[in-house]
Amino acid sequence: MITVMGATGHIGHRVVRLLREQGHDVRGVGRSANRIAATGADPCAGDAADAAFLTDAFRGADAVFTMLPDDAAEPDHRAAQDAKGEAIAAAVRASGVGYVVALSAVGADRPAGTGFIEALHAQEQRLRATGVPLLVLRPTWFQDNAAAALPVVAEHGVVADALAPDIAVPMVATRDVAAAAASALAARDRTGIVELLGPRDLTPVEMAAILGARLGRPDLPYVRLPADEMIGALTGAGFSADAAGLHVAMCEAINDGRVAPMAGRTPENTTPTRFEDLVGELVGQVV
Ligand SMILES: NC(=O)c1ccc[n+]([C@@H]2O[C@H](COP(=O)([O-])OP(=O)(O)OC[C@H]3O[C@@H](n4cnc5c(N)ncnc54)[C@H](OP(=O)(O)O)[C@@H]3O)[C@@H](O)[C@H]2O)c1
Repeated sequence: MITVMGATGHIGHRVVRLLREQGHDVRGVGRSANRIAATGADPCAGDAADAAFLTDAFRGADAVFTMLPDDAAEPDHRAAQDAKGEAIAAAVRASGVGYVVALSAVGADRPAGTGFIEALHAQEQRLRATGVPLLVLRPTWFQDNAAAALPVVAEHGVVADALAPDIAVPMVATRDVAAAAASALAARDRTGIVELLGPRDLTPVEMAAILGARLGRPDLPYVRLPADEMIGALTGAGFSADAAGLHVAMCEAINDGRVAPMAGRTPENTTPTRFEDLVGELVGQVV
């Protein structure tokens, strides 16, 4: 049996499906038993900051997929992530699970100066300190994030973010992250760090062009917002001021190269799904 945190999320629901297709029993963790059951996993509903709940969810599993659920409305985002991270690490220790695949992010090698990614650095440290065999997956920026741009495109006719327009960023599809996670959870023969970078780097201008072509807006522009305007846009969309600042800090770290793959692009960290392959589906989800 394998336990999957975030079982209803972008990556987790696909991990559940892939593992079940291979014949594994899967226990899914999330906040809603009904939503978890819809993925096909056995539901284990509770809060990721509750170590006793997670210990029960992990106990008896041959392997666990861990992730830090993200709530951009948290007024103190880092404190919330640390509370979940500590509960996860405590549950890994107490449950006696023998193998963990942890979702992290490119840039988590740095302890500070990376916005949202700092919490993932801390979580990697906690999980390593448990001594349990650990594979860390470090995906880059999710291609799927583009779905969040669609309401802005509809309302303002632009794609807007704090990334520099000409910065080439590796962008990965969550389905490819899920495939890597499911494969590792099934094989349980690998530890260390694996970066997942998508098929090629794309600039925000190139992403807007691909999105625009799919939306029938071939001239869809990308606009880089200054920090204060980006923070205003994100808080208007429900982010706390703290989380909005962490997003901007992360973008600045990408812009100046502090958040970047450790070893450049290799055949192993290059994953197959192109943004062009995904964009129709993302548009279809929202329209
Ligand atoms: N976005 C990016 O570009 C990017 C890049 C690299 C790494 N990451 C990392 O990837 C992770 C997000 O992965 P994802 O996109 O697959 O997740 P997601 O789609 O945001 O899903 C979050 C999952 O966590 C569950 N959840 C939320 N709050 C919870 C809580 N308090 N207790 C228990 N379960 C909870 C949700 O279940 P319910 O809502 O059903 O309860 C859902 O299954 C984050 O750690 C992020 O830092 C993101």
